[in-house]
Amino acid sequence: MAEERVGQVVFEAEEIAAAVRRLARAIAADASGEPLLLVGVLKGALFFVADLARALPPSLDVRVDYVAAASYGDSHRSSGQVRLLKDTSQSVEGKQVVLVEDIVENGWTLQYLSGLFQARRPASLRSCTLLDKPYHRRTEVAPTYVGLRVPDAFIVGYGLDYQEKYRHLPYLAKIAPCASGETRGRPGNKEA
Ligand code: PRP
Repeated sequence: MAEERVGQVVFEAEEIAAAVRRLARAIAADASGEPLLLVGVLKGALFFVADLARALPPSLDVRVDYVAAASYGDSHRSSGQVRLLKDTSQSVEGKQVVLVEDIVENGWTLQYLSGLFQARRPASLRSCTLLDKPYHRRTEVAPTYVGLRVPDAFIVGYGLDYQEKYRHLPYLAKIAPCASGETRGRPGNKEA
């Protein structure tokens, strides 16, 4: 069995940074000077939410919190049932909340979190994803803010992993299949 290898770079670090700045401008414009709670979805969004928060105007009242979520299912097939592994440490009631995802594919994670947070009566609830694969959607969810649309390939780097590796890469790159016949978008993870 061949080792997987990181292949073609899809977005360089500067292209990611430019997308983060664009998203921050849009989020700040909609915030209208009111306090904002960014909720990063771990682990994939760990770098994105950190960079997004720092790209927002220093004058804005910005808080950062995290959730962690995972889908039930085996390593190759997500069942669409999402469970919460870690909740926020602060209440979201009455707050202007933005869920921050690294990538939206099927949309199950965002759909689950949107329902969970909406029930907690925030003042507003928006969602922001750095990367989008709208052609993989199996739910009705539509992120409020989308940074970059990615090709139908397994992408690693800038928080995204392959079997927990490659999150640390400062760019986003395709990864070559690690086993014969494994050509799906996200090997060993979310593709149904
Ligand atoms: C990834 C990603 C999103 C979710 C998107 O998380 O970070 O949260 O999948 O997929 P969906 O739209 O099909 O629900 P993953 O479960 O791989 O965990 P990780 O962030 O800890 O790597």
